Amino acid sequence: MRRYYVTTFGCQMNAHDSERIKGVLEELGLGEAPAADEADVIVFNTCTIREKPDQRLAAHLGNAAALKRRRPDTVVAVGGCYAEAQRERIFERYPFVDVAFGPGTIRHLAEWLGAGGAGVARHAFGTADERRFSAELPTQRDRLVQAWVQVSMGCNSVCSYCIVPRVRGREVSRRPGDILAEVTALARHGVREVTLLGQNVNSYGRDLAPDIDTGFAELLRAVDRVDGVERIRFTSPHPKDFRPNVIQAMAECAAVCEHAHLPLQSGSTHVLKRMRRTYSRERYLRLVDELRGAIPDLALTTDIIVGFPGETEQDFRATLEVVEEVGFDGAFTFVYSPRSGTEAAEMHDQVPDEVKRDRIERLVELVQQIAAARNQARIGRIEEVLVESPSRTDPTMLRGRTRRNTTVNFAGAAAPGELVPVAITSSTSTTLRGTQEALVAA
Ligand code: 5AD
Ligand code: SF4
Repeated sequence: MRRYYVTTFGCQMNAHDSERIKGVLEELGLGEAPAADEADVIVFNTCTIREKPDQRLAAHLGNAAALKRRRPDTVVAVGGCYAEAQRERIFERYPFVDVAFGPGTIRHLAEWLGAGGAGVARHAFGTADERRFSAELPTQRDRLVQAWVQVSMGCNSVCSYCIVPRVRGREVSRRPGDILAEVTALARHGVREVTLLGQNVNSYGRDLAPDIDTGFAELLRAVDRVDGVERIRFTSPHPKDFRPNVIQAMAECAAVCEHAHLPLQSGSTHVLKRMRRTYSRERYLRLVDELRGAIPDLALTTDIIVGFPGETEQDFRATLEVVEEVGFDGAFTFVYSPRSGTEAAEMHDQVPDEVKRDRIERLVELVQQIAAARNQARIGRIEEVLVESPSRTDPTMLRGRTRRNTTVNFAGAAAPGELVPVAITSSTSTTLRGTQEALVAA
């Protein structure tokens, strides 16, 4: 049997697409190899949001080239956002690449790879209007309890640092009926938690009007009604599109978890303006208040960029202030990385590298300190944990997540997919430890 190996870079959307890529390869009759150097078909699902993933990909591709020199019939395929951004240049830069494809054209992979990846035709991409939801493709899922469900693709925002709208195109929402059919099928197969995915998930549905009148709030309510779905998450919402009806749906739907990932990007209104985020620091803070007012015990996480062009020490301090004021449970922190073709890459006041490094260190320290305190405050509580698997570090322990999306390693006896009460006994800045409670008598 010919075998494949898929390496994934970047975001959850990519992780989700990789499951589809694997599904397509399995349908072609290939099996998964334990490592790239044992595979006949090597696939890279790439990201281009910052420069670092580009560099990491270059190193991986170097290894693939070496493998191919040893075994010339190895097939190398490069998909995802970096491939889409580079398009045919991929073949110039990396002549040993056989197939390149964008995020919307995974379904062509089967044709392009031919019979089991043996009869590969050198190919690239489809046209823009061929973009399709990868949800229509077969899937090979890594996790059984949790599933991602794509609700939209592309993004209509124009954040000045971001390459996504260029590579993923304009926003297109999937039909609510198709989403619900997928969620229902997943629940029937034992999935307990679904994460609704979109580049800008809460602007869902606007492009479907007036034919279909389902916005993100209605979608949450509809998914909440699907039998067997115990938990609903979504990522990433844009603060500008967080309408009161979405907050209300979050508060009222039993399955929607008490967690919002709310990308801040900067705490300085001046920087936010240059980022074209269309909200101010005050508007963001008001939204946090509204969310916390409606949803008790809400966990908040965020994305923050430091060193955006023109960011002064004062702007950066404004970000630190917002981080303190909100008290995030966690944050993904990024050093600004100019992406060619974006508006911000052309700005003249780029911040020197050493200033960026200094700021990211200060930010990370504050984020960790606050997250550690937030987790510490959970000690002594009993949290509902969705069991996922044995613990990674200690197989005698179990691992799961709370509704607030914190990972818990705990002593107990339960099967993946079960919801169990766990008494929290200790914490770090990113995880909790605990012991499963004896089942409480009804
Ligand atoms: N440089 C640094 N970080 C970026 N992000 C997006 N584009 C860039 C860039 N050019 C970050 C944003 C976004 C997250 C997915 O990646 O914070 O929310
Ligand atoms: Fe990029 Fe902004 Fe769209 Fe997010 S909302 S994908 S940061 S343009």
